[in-house]
Amino acid sequence: MCGIVGYVGKRDSQNILIDGLKKLEYRGYDSAGVAVYTTEGLQIKKSKGRLAVLESKLEEAPLNGNIGIGHTRWATHGKPSDVNSHPHTDNSSKFSVVHNGIIENYISLKEELIAQGHVFVSETDTEVISHLIASLYEGDIVRAVQKAVTRMRGAFALGVLTEHEPEKLVAVRLSSPLIIGVGEGENFIGSDIPAILEHTRNVYILNDGEMALLTKDDVTLMTLEGNFISRELFHVDWDIVTAEKAGFDHFMLKEVYDQPKAYRDTMGARIDASGTKVLLPEVGMTREQIADIRNVHIIACGTAFHAGLVGKSVIETLVRIPVEADVASEYRYRSPIITPQTLVIVVSQSGETADTLAALREAKRNGARVLAITNVVGSSIAREADDVIVTWAGPEIAVASTKAYTSQLIAFFLLGLYLAQTLEKVEAGYVKEVLAAMQELPKQVEQVLAQADSIREVAEQIAKHHNLFFIGRGLDFATALEGSLKLKEISYIHSEAYAAGELKHGTLALIEDGIPVIALATQEVLFEKTVSNIKEVKARGAQVYGIHMEGNDELSKVVDETFAIPQTHQLLAPALSVIPLQLLSYYASLALGHDVDKPRNLAKSVTVE
Ligand code: F6R
Repeated sequence: MCGIVGYVGKRDSQNILIDGLKKLEYRGYDSAGVAVYTTEGLQIKKSKGRLAVLESKLEEAPLNGNIGIGHTRWATHGKPSDVNSHPHTDNSSKFSVVHNGIIENYISLKEELIAQGHVFVSETDTEVISHLIASLYEGDIVRAVQKAVTRMRGAFALGVLTEHEPEKLVAVRLSSPLIIGVGEGENFIGSDIPAILEHTRNVYILNDGEMALLTKDDVTLMTLEGNFISRELFHVDWDIVTAEKAGFDHFMLKEVYDQPKAYRDTMGARIDASGTKVLLPEVGMTREQIADIRNVHIIACGTAFHAGLVGKSVIETLVRIPVEADVASEYRYRSPIITPQTLVIVVSQSGETADTLAALREAKRNGARVLAITNVVGSSIAREADDVIVTWAGPEIAVASTKAYTSQLIAFFLLGLYLAQTLEKVEAGYVKEVLAAMQELPKQVEQVLAQADSIREVAEQIAKHHNLFFIGRGLDFATALEGSLKLKEISYIHSEAYAAGELKHGTLALIEDGIPVIALATQEVLFEKTVSNIKEVKARGAQVYGIHMEGNDELSKVVDETFAIPQTHQLLAPALSVIPLQLLSYYASLALGHDVDKPRNLAKSVTVE
């Protein structure tokens, strides 16, 4: 999983490549590199570490030339090091390759090439590609790449240059995202749109099994077999400033504060003007097809999976259909029982997560209808699903997901109500009541955000600890899982989320004097039970911070500190109660001096299994 950029045109390519890579650092940031065709031939500069390290190398000795490729890496094969960084080249140093993905059969290819006399310097699968292309080159780079690709198994997006044809940039896509930006007298490649948006809004989105030949004046699209393709240009109508920090110290904080807008945009025209009905024209199922659904599988990874857990509760409560929620990496290998009457819902912010995409394909192979909830229009998951509910959260740059998660919750509320209303499983008055409560959410999120200072104080206390717990029941348990993941990933503090009633079956042994416990108690019917569990940890010395709904102040009698979220419908509570937890992890990470937006070992888009 990595980010790729490429440029061919009249301008100096180096800075264009670096600017593009800055936009892609969320895809990986353990090393970076560029290859530029200069007056001295194809030159590569690369180094382990953040992009800034490469930038300073290039400042000392710039690479001047009008065609180049660049890469930001998240290591899969071979540790982060200068030599393992991309671009890679062959023994003649006349070919240069950047790659995002994995070549599964690289070992056998490498052995074959070694037998032919090729000498390898890195531990990567990518280096094999540059040698393979070089070995197959007979004067036509497009043909050599096509031949090489037939030998490679796995997932890849490639950018390829050769000194032999220095005006050509070749791009390939197979299971890893790649787009082409079309300018005037210049053309671009990128792993995603923000990487090239500064230069052009006209884009071709490559499909799996497609490639492109770019020169400064032309883009030729073709299949990997060489059949030419004609395609309409896609015009990007969103703005690059929406992808920037807008005055906030970190993308994560900006994205937390973007949430009222993300809620409004995701609800948008999906609630009719009278506020009584959900409109989801993007769900193409007829009433009969919906009535035919026997069970629902929700599949996702990480934070998106936690949204799926909320979705499970929402759909079961409203529609009374059995729902299973699975993490995608488990789903594929556990022989799930999928039938044509199973509705499979895949949830993915990026729409590119490899495990989720594979689960989608598995579900389709088994005849299920697949509905995707994703934030990225044109992503692989969006394109392969039968129905797509787009969350209009806008680009999410921070590795820790916030507004994408809460927009997924909004999408699930809408979908649950839509299915229930179509099947007449709920009274019209009930739908109206929930929709009215949903429309209050953006304002209520603002009220929670207005209390950021008090959350910061708690975060600074928590940052002094090495372990803590999140507990809750029902929907509060799903939120506890998300709060715990968020804290772990950006503050590196160990935490566990537990169903509050489960503590005494083992975990209570870990509760000791002073240990912080974040207890969620927003669910009215479970309130008393949760309070009993809170008392169990209090009795063993825990320092308890409680989150409850306004108007129910009972919690303050049993915990050390409380935080109230505004009154809302029970089902919707996760869309408010997670906000203080997002801020808690943000401020804890800040207090500990960590890189909030780019936590160690992680990347934004996980396109490897
Ligand atoms: C955590 C986080 C991850 C993602 C997961 C799935 O903050 O962002 O757990 O939720 O990697 O990513 P998507 O939603 O892009 O499929």
